[in-house]
Amino acid sequence: MSSADTRSHRFIAACRGRPTDCTPVWLMRQAGRYQPSYRKLREQVEFFELCRQPELAARVTVNAVDELGVDAAIIFSDILVPVMAMGAHVELTERGPRIASPVTDQAGIDALRVFDPREEVGYVMDAVRLTTRELAGKVPLIGFAGAPLTLASYLTEGGHSRNFASLKALLFTDPAAAHALMDKLARVVSAHLRAQVEAGCAAVQVFDSWAGILSPRDYRELCLPYLRRIMEELADTGVPRILFGTCTGTLLELFKESGADVIGLDWRIGLDEARARLGADMPVQGNLDPCCLFMDEPALERRIALVLQEAGPEPGHIFNLGHGVLPPTDPGRARFLVETVHRLSARSEGAPWAR
Ligand code: CP3
Repeated sequence: MSSADTRSHRFIAACRGRPTDCTPVWLMRQAGRYQPSYRKLREQVEFFELCRQPELAARVTVNAVDELGVDAAIIFSDILVPVMAMGAHVELTERGPRIASPVTDQAGIDALRVFDPREEVGYVMDAVRLTTRELAGKVPLIGFAGAPLTLASYLTEGGHSRNFASLKALLFTDPAAAHALMDKLARVVSAHLRAQVEAGCAAVQVFDSWAGILSPRDYRELCLPYLRRIMEELADTGVPRILFGTCTGTLLELFKESGADVIGLDWRIGLDEARARLGADMPVQGNLDPCCLFMDEPALERRIALVLQEAGPEPGHIFNLGHGVLPPTDPGRARFLVETVHRLSARSEGAPWAR
C-alpha cells in the first residue's frame, strides 16, 4: 500500500474501530482565523459570503489539509447556514454570530421553515462536490451540522450565552413548543447531512457544542430522541457518524445511546475513563486542550503522548483537539502537532509507552 493510500484510509478505518498504521488526526476549525491564508481571504470576503461561494469554500477546505497534513478534510461552512435557510437572520459580529429576532414562542417556531437543502443551500453541496474532486481521494471529506440543542441555543438566545436562560425558559416552561422546535431542527439536520453525503462526504459530524448545559435527565428527555432519529436516518448511507460535544462527562452513556459510530470528547475527561465507560470497542475522537498549542514543542509533545497513552492500545482513536483551534494559535505549532501524532503513534516503531 502506498503512503497516499494509507493516509486516505486511516481516518475511516479508525472510525470503524479497525487498526491503522498510525493514529489519524484532524483538527476542529482546522480552516480559520489562525491561518494567514484564511485571514487574507477574509479581508476581501465576508464570512457567510465565503460559505456561499463553492470555489472559495473548497479552496479554504483544501488549503487546511495541504498546510497541516491532516488525515481528513471538513467542509468549510457553518452550523448556522441551515438556520439561515429556516428564515433566521444571522450576522457574524466581533462577538460571534448574532440572530436579529430570537425565537421565543410557538409562533416563532411555526414561522421557521423546513426546506430542501439541495435547493436552499445547494452551494454547500456544490462546495462538497468541488472539494471531493480537488482532494482526489487523498483524504476523506467530513460533512457536518449542529445538533438540535446547539442550534436551538442560537435561535433562542440570539447568540452565545452565559447561562442559556432563554433556551431553558422555552425548554422547561413550554415542553410542547420545545419538542416542536427540536423536531423541526432534527428534520433540517437529517436532510442537510444526507445531502452532504449524497454530494460526496465520506463521514459526518454532529456538533452538540453546548450539550453539557443540560442535566442527564433533561438531555435524555429533550435531546436524545432527536439525535437517535438523526443517526437512524443516516444509517443506510453507511458513512461513519461522529457525535461531538463539550462538558459531556455526565452524558457519555447517553451519547452512546444516540447510535453514533464515534464519540467526540473535550479535554475535561480523560480518554482512558471515557473508553472504560463507553466500552473499548466504541471509537473515540479527541481530546487535547486547544490551549496546549500555546506550549513550546517539547511540552506540547509530552501532552500529545499523554493523550495517545490515555487512548490506549486498542484501535478506534482519532486524534483531535477537544474543541476548535483558537485564533492566536501559531500555524507551525498546529503542523507540529499533526507530525507528532503520526510519529509517536506509528505502529512499526512502537508507541513510546508500549516499549
Ligand atoms: O474547519 C472547520 O472546522 C470547518 C468549518 C466550521 C466553522 N464553524 C467555520 C467558522 C465548523 C465545523 C463550524 C462549526 C460551528 N460554528 C460550531 C460548532 C463547533 C464549535 O466551535 O463549537 C459553532 C458553535 C458555530 C457557530 C459559530 N460560527 C461561532 C461561535 C463563530 C464565531 C466564533 C469563532 O469561534 O470563530 C462562528 C464563525 C466561524 N465559523 C468562523 C469559522 C472559520 C470564524 C469566522 C471569521 O471570523 O472568519
